[in-house]
Amino acid sequence: MKEIDALRAQIRRQEYNYYVLDRPEMSDAEYDALLERLKKLEAEHPELKTPDSPTQRVGGAAAPGFGAAQHITPLLSLANAFSLEELTAFDARVRGVLGGEPVEYVVEPKIDGLACSLIYENGVLTRAATRGDGLTGENVTANIRTVRSIPLRLLEEKETAPALLDVRGEVYMPRGAFTRLNQEKEDAGENGFANPRNAAAGSLRQLDPAVTARRELGFFAYAAGTGARAYHSETLGMLARMGFQVSAGYKVVSNIEEAAPLIEDYAARRQKLSFDIDGVVIKVNDAAQQERLGATGKDPRWAIAYKFPAEEAQTRLKKIILRVGRTGVVTPAAELDPVKLAGSTISRATLHNFDYVAQKDIREGDMVIIHKAGDIIPEVVRVRQEERPPGALPYSPPDACPECAARIERREGEVAFYCSNPHCPALGREKIIHFVSRPAMDIEGAGPRLIGALTDAGLLRDAADLYVLKREDISRLERQGDKSAENLTAAIAASKERGLARLLFALGIRHVGEKAAKTLARHFSTLDRIFAAGEEDITALPDIGGKVAESIISWRSVPANAELIERLRAAGLTFADSPPVPADGLLKGAVFVFTGALERFTRDEAAAMVEAAGGQTASSVSKKTGYVVAGKDAGGKLEKARSLDVRILSEEEFLALLGKG
Ligand code: IVH
Repeated sequence: MKEIDALRAQIRRQEYNYYVLDRPEMSDAEYDALLERLKKLEAEHPELKTPDSPTQRVGGAAAPGFGAAQHITPLLSLANAFSLEELTAFDARVRGVLGGEPVEYVVEPKIDGLACSLIYENGVLTRAATRGDGLTGENVTANIRTVRSIPLRLLEEKETAPALLDVRGEVYMPRGAFTRLNQEKEDAGENGFANPRNAAAGSLRQLDPAVTARRELGFFAYAAGTGARAYHSETLGMLARMGFQVSAGYKVVSNIEEAAPLIEDYAARRQKLSFDIDGVVIKVNDAAQQERLGATGKDPRWAIAYKFPAEEAQTRLKKIILRVGRTGVVTPAAELDPVKLAGSTISRATLHNFDYVAQKDIREGDMVIIHKAGDIIPEVVRVRQEERPPGALPYSPPDACPECAARIERREGEVAFYCSNPHCPALGREKIIHFVSRPAMDIEGAGPRLIGALTDAGLLRDAADLYVLKREDISRLERQGDKSAENLTAAIAASKERGLARLLFALGIRHVGEKAAKTLARHFSTLDRIFAAGEEDITALPDIGGKVAESIISWRSVPANAELIERLRAAGLTFADSPPVPADGLLKGAVFVFTGALERFTRDEAAAMVEAAGGQTASSVSKKTGYVVAGKDAGGKLEKARSLDVRILSEEEFLALLGKG
């Protein structure tokens, strides 16, 4: 029991450090080992299992539906303001009711997700519900339990939990997770989600919590229904100490004028955040004043949402073009008259699939509204019917592949259209484009255009051909100088050491996304072991389901794929992780931590340089850290390095140390 208690506390700490603070203090492998040990002990002593144990995030069978959940106090909504004048009017109303007393406000980001109430009884999560109509929502406890940044038991080191706490906040999906999810859906011939908010809502309403668990949802706490403190800012502080993610940037201001620059600041930084915000919320800080102000209908009089203008632009859709993906899916995209949107010039937007084009009745020549969902490719959201040019015809999906003219077919139960030719030249090319892409083998200089030229020239048929390409082959191609050919061959050679997870992802096996590839690599450590594994071995891994296992097994059984693997092996690619450290490495054994905004290289590049020289990287600073490399705006880690007397290097000094300065 003592060991179980200690393990649970350690695991909770790590989940908090990892998912809430984004500052892990142990490696994934160490975390896995602790969790495995706890699982084993709980299996041996089932009487010691408790619902708040970290092993119990995904438990039990799928529910037949969601029951109704009545809220303890209503979940209110917010009135909107779209201009500073409206904010001033809000402030005047507030001060009017309060008889001219001074009013402090809290300014915080408005997270674009969906509201939830989490009930904790004596520190343990007992119920989670969506907003519903504000009085009654849906009971989504089983799904909420899978969100790793939500504590199943409150951290009580610095804060004693009240008997009853009703935490209110927003469930959201980070943009990166949204992009990955939509990519996976697209690969599976399914419809993607329109934006991270819909993806979060869809993920929370899954009947099978195991599916929700794979969706990488997050939660920002922004209020307490029951158990709040005398000041809102204190409530936020309390929630943070109890283990919740609370928006880091909340600020207390002493009058409404001070809120304006903060709003501007959020508007300017919004694209750089890892999650969507659609505005800023301004709340009266003093709970007693909030009480006196009360609410009108569903909106409190003590808070207001300042909404950012939607990031939309209007332009002409010149042409609907078709692209064949690496799985043979044919997708339509819009070629646009270039237009500025959220800081970049857009000339292409996605149309998702042919059903989407038909539903929205999008035609060539139309004036369309485009919008950026997350920070990814923009999409066409609607047509301005009133500006349709005369003679614009409804769009009909093609019946022949734009690349090879083979018949296009629609598969049962999928929205996607596929090219029916298994040898369509687009497939080979797109697979290679995926193989060399940044999250995969990250071969710099191998852009889609160049890969296209090489495949057209017959120099590349599959990814293994990359490794036998000669410099002359490349430089002979139009517009490729000797220097860039040399860089490219060097980048290709360097990619042989990218590690197992990237290689596995690069192979483009259906359902094996970046995350699944990492999990598989971490567990099996060699490619051969992955391909030798049986279905049960694979599905035993966390967050890996039957679809992934089936897909890996069937991929390997295709002779052409088996042959590709052998040719990659012959080319000298590393199929196993943790390559031996070169004995005479320059940085042998030294542990590096990188922090702040790096400008001379990316974190991945830095890690590769360190490892190539025999060093190691870590994500947090400790006594074991040899060097901290600090970029711009370095914060906590830099301070910690100073306090521990760890050597601190600038990016330039780091390069100099490696002899690359
Ligand atoms: S406060 C009375 N704070 O925006 C308190 N809401 O448009 C009501 N939201 O239903 C909510 N971020 O789902 C609050 N920092 C934040 C928020 C926030 C996002 C959502 C929430 C609410 C909706 C109203």
